[in-house]
Amino acid sequence: MKPPELYFIDGAAPESSAPADAPPPWTETRVVGKAIPRVDAYERVSGTAVYPSDVVLPDMLYGAILRCPHASARVTRLDSAAAERLPGVRAVISGLTKAADVRWYYSRTVFTKLFDPRCRFQGEAVAAVAAETPEQAWDAVRAITVEYEVLPFVVDEREALAAGAPAVHEAGNRVGELERYQRGDVARGFAEADKVVEVSFRTAAEIHTPMELHGCVARWDGPRLTLWESTQGVYPVQQRVAATLEMPLAGVRVIGSYMGGGFGSKLQADKYHVVAAVLARLAARPVKLFLTREETFLCVGNRPPANMRLKAGVKKDGTLTALELTCLGSGGAYPAGGTSLVDWLVRDLYTCPNVRTECTDVYINGGPSRPFRAPGHPQGAWALEQMMDALAAAIGMDPVELRLKNVPAFSQGREGNPPYTTTGLERCLTEGAEAFGWHEARRRPRGSGPVKRGVGVAAGLWVAGGGGPPSTVIVKLFPDGSANLNMGASDIGTGTKTVMAMVVAEELGVPLERIQIENADTGTTEYATASGGSKTVPTESPTVRAAALAVKGQLFDLAAAELKVPATELRIEGEEVASRSDPKARKRIAELEGLRRRGVLVGVGVRGPNPEGKVINPFAAQFCEVEVDTRTGEVRVVRFLSCNDSGRVMNRLTYESQVIGGVTMGIGLALTEQRVFDRQTGKVLSANWHDYKIPTVMDVPPEITSLPIDRPDPAANTTGAKGLGEPVTIPTAATVANAVYDAVGVRVVESPISPMRLAALLAARGTRG
Ligand code: MOS
Repeated sequence: MKPPELYFIDGAAPESSAPADAPPPWTETRVVGKAIPRVDAYERVSGTAVYPSDVVLPDMLYGAILRCPHASARVTRLDSAAAERLPGVRAVISGLTKAADVRWYYSRTVFTKLFDPRCRFQGEAVAAVAAETPEQAWDAVRAITVEYEVLPFVVDEREALAAGAPAVHEAGNRVGELERYQRGDVARGFAEADKVVEVSFRTAAEIHTPMELHGCVARWDGPRLTLWESTQGVYPVQQRVAATLEMPLAGVRVIGSYMGGGFGSKLQADKYHVVAAVLARLAARPVKLFLTREETFLCVGNRPPANMRLKAGVKKDGTLTALELTCLGSGGAYPAGGTSLVDWLVRDLYTCPNVRTECTDVYINGGPSRPFRAPGHPQGAWALEQMMDALAAAIGMDPVELRLKNVPAFSQGREGNPPYTTTGLERCLTEGAEAFGWHEARRRPRGSGPVKRGVGVAAGLWVAGGGGPPSTVIVKLFPDGSANLNMGASDIGTGTKTVMAMVVAEELGVPLERIQIENADTGTTEYATASGGSKTVPTESPTVRAAALAVKGQLFDLAAAELKVPATELRIEGEEVASRSDPKARKRIAELEGLRRRGVLVGVGVRGPNPEGKVINPFAAQFCEVEVDTRTGEVRVVRFLSCNDSGRVMNRLTYESQVIGGVTMGIGLALTEQRVFDRQTGKVLSANWHDYKIPTVMDVPPEITSLPIDRPDPAANTTGAKGLGEPVTIPTAATVANAVYDAVGVRVVESPISPMRLAALLAARGTRG
């Protein structure tokens, strides 16, 4: 069986054979692994960091987009004459504008137009305006007259294949062929089981809603376009915009600077880039176009809903005999991977000889989905990890024991069953349970009052750990001993710059505050894939290390001549180059005459290939304790522990930040987050931060503990890191659901576990407080 196509990570396919000149793994480190505050912390918290949304250019106009208010409609007439006459308006574009007659694809198979008269979801772009002020732009948007033929819609994926359901696309609502996977014989597996459990699960659609809105500033210099863009990857945006506008890659410069979160929704270019570029060209002025918060809820991606029917067989001793998953999901109105990777954990997380999965993707009249922090995995974990809990109860086994019984030795879901470089699942479960006090907590009484306590566990792995080529990085060392790190990967708020500076400091001894890091910019920094897939650290840190080592080699050659010792005898001590044998042969880097004469040393690092025939996956186990108020149905997460095997811990502090962020996000999936459509109108009812509730600091436990299995993975790459950002959110929602079950004996199969839903379930069982 083929592994799933990692559609959201371009260029991440591992190449074969290890490079002969790969540096050996670090045996000890002085900087890497420490808890070091972010090198750009002051800039970020003081407001001096310039984000794309802060960019203001002389002569700049403001753009705004008119969006279809209907779930399904056809534009029958559009008149922008009145809008064009309004004060301050400098350009109006629509499907009637020649310069805006541009092909667009949401996926590689279904083409539409930048402004297509057939609108398949609420929020589709219909026209756009550039004006002197944002207010004038929005006034002009409102002054455009549009007549729509409102069409029937379907916004619930469970109804999309019903007879008579409105067709989102002419060919019907099924997206391509069924995705099927099979190994062994599930019928035989179920026959061999002592217990068979079958449950239907559902996760609601989630919206990324990162703190910084989606948007850009577009400016033309003659034939060359520059975009300041809040993005996870400047190169993917460059590629897409160049292709759409039929321009050479070199003609599109994308500048990343700081960015305020993406979670997968900013991995790719969107229509607004092209809209801003076309407006800027017509008006011959720079255009700033940032979406409103409400727009971002409609049209820049979501974690698609998943309906999962899971059947599992287990023997009394905990051996899994069969797993069968059928999944129905929808990436919205365009093929966008609705069920992509939802089945991966069922295929790969636990040892099981007989597995069958079948995934059906349908169209609905909703905004296209995008990769969302561990695409498919938290949904799959919601089903599989609650099922493991149910199986443990069915055979009277501890849920941690049941998981330990089925820890895999190799990747069963991939062709040829390749081994993992390292498998930390067993250690995550045992060391996590120990640190959490799992066994004591399980024995504690649930509480005699209306508030019940419970504990839960869940585990996970992430399919795309380890990163891989391509990436190129340049490190420069100046005669005063300061350094410049030139890297094309964006720091999307995760601490990438800090970790990479630490790698430079490790190899060259340059203090962190003396390392200048360039922001991702296709005009000045080298090629990198988008920051995503938990691959930024395992992809870029070996590349940065290679670049720093290239500088170090040159530095030692210079110093060897000056100190009159062999270069092989030299090492970095603090900010000095020193001989290992002769204590007198040493010199501060800033005092090397050869370096001063040269002006700068330049080291180029290129990411080497991943190991052949091995799979690099991060693993995780999480534990939590909840309080459930049986009168109101409210769930409070009291404490949470995340035990992660992500290879080497590069920075203990940013590592912990990822854990806290991922757990917070997973608590949102478990308890509050859901996109809600109005069934009468097909419109999104939860299109703002008031009606769509993401957890705040008040909604997460004060105690979120990060317990790393700090074991460098030397087979993975030359820094030994495997990737963390996504594994930390995969088991979280299931952990909470399992704790709720432990507290009140009710299995909430559908997310979110809202007070209303839980109170109704408790009332139905007669256990409401
Ligand atoms: Mo992530 S969903 O690859 O940003």
